[in-house]
Amino acid sequence: MKFSKILAVLVAFGILGFAQVGSPLVLDKPAALKDIAVAVFGDASYAPAIMRATNSKALVDASFARISRLDEVLPSGAKVWIPEEAWAKAFLAVWDPNRVEDLFGGGKLVVGSWWTAGGEAEGLDALFGLYRGNYPDVVIVNATIAGGAGFAFKAVLKPRLIAGDPPDTFQLHAGLEVEGYSPETYLRPLDDLYSIFGWDKVFPPDLLTLMRYEGHYWGVPVNIHRANVLWYSKEIFAKYNLKPPANWDEFFQICDFLKSKGIVPITLANAGGWEAPHLFETILASTLTPEEYRGLWTGATPWTHPGVTKALEILKKILDYVNTDYSAHTWDTVLEYIAAGRGAMNVMGDWAMGWFMAKGVDVGWAPVPGTKGVFDALSDTFAFPKRAPNPINVIGWLEVCGSKEGQIAFNMRKGSIPARTDITPAEKAQFNPYLQSCMEDWARDAIVPSVIHGAAAPESWVVDFKDAINLFLVTKDVARAQAALVAAAQAALGK
Ligand code: GAL
Repeated sequence: MKFSKILAVLVAFGILGFAQVGSPLVLDKPAALKDIAVAVFGDASYAPAIMRATNSKALVDASFARISRLDEVLPSGAKVWIPEEAWAKAFLAVWDPNRVEDLFGGGKLVVGSWWTAGGEAEGLDALFGLYRGNYPDVVIVNATIAGGAGFAFKAVLKPRLIAGDPPDTFQLHAGLEVEGYSPETYLRPLDDLYSIFGWDKVFPPDLLTLMRYEGHYWGVPVNIHRANVLWYSKEIFAKYNLKPPANWDEFFQICDFLKSKGIVPITLANAGGWEAPHLFETILASTLTPEEYRGLWTGATPWTHPGVTKALEILKKILDYVNTDYSAHTWDTVLEYIAAGRGAMNVMGDWAMGWFMAKGVDVGWAPVPGTKGVFDALSDTFAFPKRAPNPINVIGWLEVCGSKEGQIAFNMRKGSIPARTDITPAEKAQFNPYLQSCMEDWARDAIVPSVIHGAAAPESWVVDFKDAINLFLVTKDVARAQAALVAAAQAALGK
């Protein structure tokens, strides 16, 4: 087969321009892989990518050739799969030529995350569905470890990374969380994949800055979550003609009223040890300006600031209005109070919206009192360990995570919004009213980074922050808690 003819076939199949995931090509005369690679990509070095892609297809469709050697000459009539150019480039960037086994397709994709609750699981499944559509030869292993905010997951992941036994890809918050994984030792920098797939052009500049640590990208963001949301029971608020509180005074008035009616005014969980600190973080965003809040994590705002004292006082007062069994509840189980009309309000990130959607509960929302115009943000990303056992399978996973299709399918179930900036009005209209309003706030509000969810500080500081607040729940000693927060900042910032 003449290469001009191959090109004609390619044009006929519509695969020039490489807009598709790939296309089949039937040889009408014997050809070596490297010759096909030259004809298609203008470069013989793409031969391994064609071999891998074809072998992947052959595992699920016997009409494709099974190729056993890179220098094999394929007979006339052989059907190969020409991968899309971006995937092929990514393959060449990722593939280690010593790993001949990676040319044969199939295998697993072990995806590590803590997404097991309502909304979380549905979102993850949507990503799996898209991946399976593209790579039916690969078995997805859903390697979740339950526990909101991932503290249980992270504790298991770290030793696995160190031992050289990581999952293929894992959930990682955007921001300083990555520091705890010694990324230069254990993770693959993703700069080349960012430029191959154009991710450096589709995510907002601030998020890209947050994603860069030690000059490199280490994860591909799938979403933006908002941490400072007050969820409320529409039923209870309508029954008593209440309006969502705009500030803490209004909030406590509502609390007093509801308490007198025998309703839990504000529900709280803390079985994971992070839920009350999460609430506290959002209170800080109300007692400090966005600038001051950001400064807490850089050293520009001292932790002796009166806004910190005030936040502790507010948290202390909230404890008079919460369910007494909070230490037995996780973020999701406590939402049952609201679903059942026994609890009126809850402060949680908008994964709670994912839970309410999954359970079919119509819930009200407002910014946490005093935080209108402030967006306490975090982002979930997927990272790529250096020792991923099935590295080639990770390429398509990250591609789905970063794609528009993936971000739409995932986020409308997860309760988060796409991190990509190119969502059209028609695509936006597919999201529920909360998520649409969230997209508007994300574009307009002052953004502050979440500490509990990895954006603001390294993991060691997050742990000290949590410890200070968890002790405070017992002592209710404002001065002591503030001193512990000051000490945590000193330990982290070295001053
Ligand atoms: C956050 C994570 C969210 C959500 C939440 C509760 O840390 O970013 O995606 O899953 O934990 O598990």
